[in-house]
Amino acid sequence: MATFQNLLLQLEDNGILTISINRADKLNALNSTTILELQQAIQEVYDDTTIKGVIITGVGAKAFVAGADIAEIAELSEVNARSFAERGQEVFSMIERCNKPVIAAVNGFALGGGCELAMACHMRIASENAKFGQPEVNLGLIPGYGGTQRLTQLIGKGKAMELMMTADMLSAPEALALGLANHVVAQEELLPKCHEILTKILAKAPLAIGMVIDCVNAVYAKDENGYQTEANSFARCCTSEDFVEGTNAFLEKRKANFKGI
Ligand code: COA
Repeated sequence: MATFQNLLLQLEDNGILTISINRADKLNALNSTTILELQQAIQEVYDDTTIKGVIITGVGAKAFVAGADIAEIAELSEVNARSFAERGQEVFSMIERCNKPVIAAVNGFALGGGCELAMACHMRIASENAKFGQPEVNLGLIPGYGGTQRLTQLIGKGKAMELMMTADMLSAPEALALGLANHVVAQEELLPKCHEILTKILAKAPLAIGMVIDCVNAVYAKDENGYQTEANSFARCCTSEDFVEGTNAFLEKRKANFKGI
C-alpha cells in the first residue's frame, strides 16, 4: 500500500480498505494534494485485486470533509478554476464508477466538496453528529465537484435547489429522511455499520455487484440506454462461473462460494 501525506490507508485481511482523509486541523478540507492522493488511492482500488470494498471517512470526530480548501480556492483564476472543477469531477467520477462497493462513513461535517465526495460514493452512512450541505453560495461560488448534479439526483430538484441556494445544512436525520444518508448511527457504531454492510456485499458475486453499480449509474448517463446496459450486463452474468456456482448452491441448498469470475 502506498503511503500518503493527507490520507491514511488501512487494508484488512477481508479486503476492506479504509481511506481516511487526514487533515483534521483543517477539518479535512480537500486541497489539491489531497485530491491528487485520492485519485492515486482510488486507482490502487481499481488495480489491486486484494481490495474488495472501500470505506471513505475523515480523521477525527468533527468532520468528514468540510469542503474544498478555501485558502486554495481564493487564489483561483477563471482558467485554473475550470480545470480545478474538472479535476475534482474526474476523481469523484472514478469513485462513482468503481466496480467495487465504496461507502462514505460520514463522521461529521460533509460540506461543499465533502458533501460532493460523500455523494460520489455508492452509499452514505452518517453518524448522529453529521451535517450535510453545499454552502458555496456563501463564498460567491457554486458546487464544482459534481454537487449540482448528484444532489439533484439524490434528493430531487426542489430540495436540491433550496439547499444550494440557502446554504442551509441538513442534520443527519434530515439527510436520512431525504434519502441522502442510507442510515444514521451513533458515532462509535459508524465504522462497524459500514463493515457490516460491506461484509454482506462482499459475500455476493463480485461481477454482479460491479454490474449493479454500472447499471444504476447508467440511469444518469445521458448518452446511455440503461435498459440496454442492464440486458447486456444480465447476459454477461449468465456467462460467469459465479452464476453457475450461485444457481447450483441454491439448488443444492448450500452457501455459494463466489470467485469473481
Ligand atoms: N477550507 C480550508 N480550511 C477550512 C475549511 C475549508 N473548507 N473548513 C474549515 N477550515 C479550517 C478553518 O479555517 C480552521 O483553521 P484554523 O484553525 O487554521 O483557523 C479549522 O479548519 C477549524 O475550522 P473552524 O471554522 O474554526 O471550526 P468551527 O467549528 O468554528 O466551524 C465549520 C466549522 C465547518 C462550520 C466551518 O469551518 C466552515 O464553515 N467551514 C467552511 C465550509 C465551507 O464553506 N465549505 C465549502 C467550501 S467550497
